[in-house]
Amino acid sequence: MHQILFFMQTMTQVQSNTNTDAFPILGTDFLEFYVGNAKQTAHYYQTAFGFELIAYRGPETGCKDFCSYVLKQDKIRFVITSALTPDNEIAKHHLLHGDGVKVLALWVEDVRKSYQTALERGAESAFEPYTLSDEHGEVVLAGIKTYGDTIHTLVERKNYSGPFMPGFMAKKSLMKIHPVGLQYVDHCVGNVDLGDMNRWVKFYQEVLGFKLLITFDDKDISTEYTALMSKVVSNGNGYIKFPINEPAKGKKKSQIEEFIEFYKGAGVQHIAVHTDNIIETVGKLRENGVDFLYVPDNYYDTVTERVGAIQEDLEVIKKLNILVDRDEDGYLLQLFTKPVQDRPTVFFEIIQRRGAKSFGKGNFKALFEAIEREQELRGNL
Ligand code: FE2
Repeated sequence: MHQILFFMQTMTQVQSNTNTDAFPILGTDFLEFYVGNAKQTAHYYQTAFGFELIAYRGPETGCKDFCSYVLKQDKIRFVITSALTPDNEIAKHHLLHGDGVKVLALWVEDVRKSYQTALERGAESAFEPYTLSDEHGEVVLAGIKTYGDTIHTLVERKNYSGPFMPGFMAKKSLMKIHPVGLQYVDHCVGNVDLGDMNRWVKFYQEVLGFKLLITFDDKDISTEYTALMSKVVSNGNGYIKFPINEPAKGKKKSQIEEFIEFYKGAGVQHIAVHTDNIIETVGKLRENGVDFLYVPDNYYDTVTERVGAIQEDLEVIKKLNILVDRDEDGYLLQLFTKPVQDRPTVFFEIIQRRGAKSFGKGNFKALFEAIEREQELRGNL
């Protein structure tokens, strides 16, 4: 693991030229997963990840073709959706992509205005604005397309006080929920095809007014076998961060290529969720049976040299197999789950920032070697 010490520090920090926010976004509204069995997936996020069931729609609410479970933990909302009939768009999406993230929903002040702005700047419509209303008020929605079959739903909810949105009924978990301390979505990473990264970075810059935050090239992110390139874009207030990865040529098949092969195209690779106590969070997740990537013990031989002193007990960090990295603003602790469905596609990152604003570049090598061990086991390296 000595390579980590000599890992080239070639990160390009691109300064933002902020004037006004061209596309104001208040935050992440929800993430919607299309899965094969929403009932059981929702159970998994409740028991393993400590999410609380808050709302539901399905045949009981007049929705005949699909059903959705809405789960919440602190500021994070997941919508888990499955088709009930074989001919609809959800069923087709699931047949092609398997379980995965369909919607990265963005919370905005005025959906019609945001949608109009996005279209004028070159966005492709996923669906036109419409208003849903019930006794709790109204929600306005519109959709624009991003990479692969993924979309951004724009959500305006300033005139709504219900559990989620009209069409959903309040529904509670059947078991006692034990939250694990997940607080908010830190970043969502997209994997795109070779040669497409710059196109999507440009889309976020030109259409949604994002700024380029960081560029990693294949010299930053490569192992003996695989390489990738990544650019991170962030919106005006910095609440939304979207790293975009594309594969780079390596000796063997990169993890990005494996994702694209199994997801059948570009899509969301991982969702990073923040905790302010990663030791407690990861401890609970492990007790709940969440499967994490394994990093060998020798990773910790050089960790103090690399990151300096940290507040946490290094023995506990080592026992829980948590990764540590430092940048000029502070340090961060992070850990990655294995894919959360059968296909080697979407996974989660658990992250605690202690000042650091970066993405754990110093861990990339150890992390990718861990992913490659898994790829090898699947016969996909
Ligand atoms: Fe990440």
